Amino acid sequence: MAESLTLSTSTKKEERYESLLPQIESLVSGEPDVVANLSNIAAALKQTFDFFWVGFYLVKESAMPAGADRQELVLGPFQGPIACTRIGLGKGVCGASWKEKRAIIVPNVDEFPGHIACSADSKSEIVLPAFKNDSVILVLDVDSNRLNDFDDTDEAYLSKVMRVIERFI
Ligand code: SME
Repeated sequence: MAESLTLSTSTKKEERYESLLPQIESLVSGEPDVVANLSNIAAALKQTFDFFWVGFYLVKESAMPAGADRQELVLGPFQGPIACTRIGLGKGVCGASWKEKRAIIVPNVDEFPGHIACSADSKSEIVLPAFKNDSVILVLDVDSNRLNDFDDTDEAYLSKVMRVIERFI
């Protein structure tokens, strides 16, 4: 694996993603450990874009009493302030992305019904799922402290990151 990240100084996010993607592939190549790889991917995204919060929620068996949902999202490797640890199916942006099996861009978190505010500083958000055998296995959550910070370009490139993750998860 590469042990240092070459940070693009471009002001264009496409160019930053173009520089970052092969480095992410290199970071995880030959390393099968999921926590190690997700940790480095979260760090690489944070270093490149200085996102407010970037991290993963993994689909796991519920720790709740019988009768509750069988599975829930549990906080995984991340960069940024502390965050809520468990999210139910369909709850918040992450739970909606899991339930609907699709990427969700939220330009203004205050306008998303049921948004889970881990920090009042988070203003906009993008969440993308990764799949194993057609089931969502984890979601990537990226938060910005600016409104309307994510668009189709972020979705396109972060989707490529999810496809890289699906190779080792
Ligand atoms: N805002 C997310 C919860 C996770 S934190 O932002 C890190 C949501 O609504 O699912």
